[in-house]
Amino acid sequence: MTPSDDIEPELEYDDDMIAVLEAVWGAGFLSPGGTDEVDRILDGMDLTGLSAIDIGCGLGGATLHIAGNYGVSGIIGIDIEDNLIEACETLSARMNLQEKASFRLVEPGPLPFDDDSLDMVFSKDSIIHIADKHTLAKDIFRCLKPGGWLSASDWLAGYSGDPSPQMKAYVSAEGLDFGLASAEVYKAALEEAGFVDVRITDRNAWYREEARRELENLAGALHEELESTVGKQFLDRQVDVWRKMIVVLDQGELRPTHLRARKP
Ligand SMILES: C[S@@+](CC[C@H](N)C(=O)[O-])C[C@H]1O[C@@H](n2cnc3c(N)ncnc32)[C@H](O)[C@@H]1O
Repeated sequence: MTPSDDIEPELEYDDDMIAVLEAVWGAGFLSPGGTDEVDRILDGMDLTGLSAIDIGCGLGGATLHIAGNYGVSGIIGIDIEDNLIEACETLSARMNLQEKASFRLVEPGPLPFDDDSLDMVFSKDSIIHIADKHTLAKDIFRCLKPGGWLSASDWLAGYSGDPSPQMKAYVSAEGLDFGLASAEVYKAALEEAGFVDVRITDRNAWYREEARRELENLAGALHEELESTVGKQFLDRQVDVWRKMIVVLDQGELRPTHLRARKP
């Protein structure tokens, strides 16, 4: 036994965080917009009979929505936190979707899939946690079959130089491992990897409104509901994160965005 064997790895998305995020964003989701937003990310795509993965599947809400509603041959959700993979498997069993959806705990780094093996790579608001967009774009390109698609959403930076003090305050309040990059960086990474038909759709205006409704709920009805589970101090910190997030959404420095690209 090494000295570190009995130390639990620190989870970014622990039970309290999950309880708050699911209460605000809906069962199965660690990101905003729920299944409607998943449908908007996939707007116009025919996934019948296709194989897909979901990078950073979280609690599995998006993966299982795709598994149950898009006629895919199969979808594999991957994530780096084992508590989340367990939650995905529980939800999948409850929804009776085990034949279409499976989940895999992975290490950060290269995707554990063969070259030219996937029809679609999906991801919702998880690529923000992967700092090197160029390496990731090349790896996604490698795994896709010719003609395959990347269809994703992510939280992008609306600046290219230094963030404002308000942005720094927001990122620090989140306390999550964020690797924010601008739309220019994403576009360059995708095109340099070989992708064509790169489409970047800004969702800042939508989320600015949505985040205000979320804050009202979090500071009001949900505060009372969640206090006994996660405690007042933790909830107050989350309310503070939301307030700081709305400032940077309004300043245009935080830009939820849809991404689409095709491997020729
Ligand atoms: C904001 S959550 C989004 C989860 C889910 N896609 C959703 O929309 O509810 C980001 C997720 O990315 C996962 N993640 C972070 N780094 C990752 C990596 N290198 N590979 C795969 N997943 C990762 C986190 O554990 C977390 O579940």
